Amino acid sequence: MNIELLVAQLNEALAFELRASIMYAHYAAYVSGIHRLHLSPYFEAEATESNMHAQTVRHAIVKLGGVAVMDRDPMSINHTTDYREILKSCLETEKKAAETYGNILGLIKGDDELYDSLQQIYFAELRAVEELTQLM
Ligand SMILES: [Fe+2]
Repeated sequence: MNIELLVAQLNEALAFELRASIMYAHYAAYVSGIHRLHLSPYFEAEATESNMHAQTVRHAIVKLGGVAVMDRDPMSINHTTDYREILKSCLETEKKAAETYGNILGLIKGDDELYDSLQQIYFAELRAVEELTQLM
């Protein structure tokens, strides 16, 4: 197992979770119109989930002896109140997250606990992609 590469990829995932958490909290606050009724709580829940994913990834980095990043991924977040624009941004984010976790799983060898915890996140990202695709 290439620990250095794995830690680098986990840090990429962590920075992206920190960004996702801010993005979802922002959209929960700003989404407007009739769809705000159900989308705002949905985005709040996604922000919480991103924080939980960040926590799992951070612990994995600690376990591997790495240093976890503290800054969010710099990819810009589009400010809008339009739910269609928002869902588009969320889908793009979840697709990128799923891809990152897919790559990470390919790097883990001989650590079932680590593999399982990250696979659960990977599945959650795939479910989010499906959910957002249906919402659009
Ligand atoms: Fe996530």
